[in-house]
Amino acid sequence: MIALRLFALTLAGLAMAAPASAQSASAKRGEAIVKANCAECHAVLRTGESPNAKAPPFRTLGQRYKLDDLQEALAEGIVVGHGGADMPHFVFEPAEIDDIIAYLKQINRQR
Ligand code: HEC
Repeated sequence: MIALRLFALTLAGLAMAAPASAQSASAKRGEAIVKANCAECHAVLRTGESPNAKAPPFRTLGQRYKLDDLQEALAEGIVVGHGGADMPHFVFEPAEIDDIIAYLKQINRQR
């Protein structure tokens, strides 16, 4: 619990340190969505470890997936059953999915 709280504080600190101007409005909304829905298990920023060690940090998703394919997976109700029984089932609006993908593309800058 304490570790989780520390993690949340770290997230908040990093978010404030990030230069706002470097982000598109869409990616910004996407960041808010994943922070609210996914950060419980996944590392959703450019740095940091996932709270759930089995959940891949979002900044590495681009190495395993084409992010545009992920868009489809999200539209279909996300990677069904991912993470096992405690994985909530997400349903997002198309506009929200665009925002999430915009954000993921930003933190997965092709290296
Ligand atoms: C309750 C914990 C939890 C939450 C909340 C969660 N995830 Fe996950 N997620 C996992 C775990 C654990 C894995 C690794 C699953 C595996 O490898 O079997 C995973 C894997 C993934 C993967 C890779 C899937 C794969 O097949 O390798 C994607 C993409 C993903 N999550 C997206 C999301 C998004 C987007 C959100 C928020 C909308 C989210 N997750 C919220 C636990 C979670």
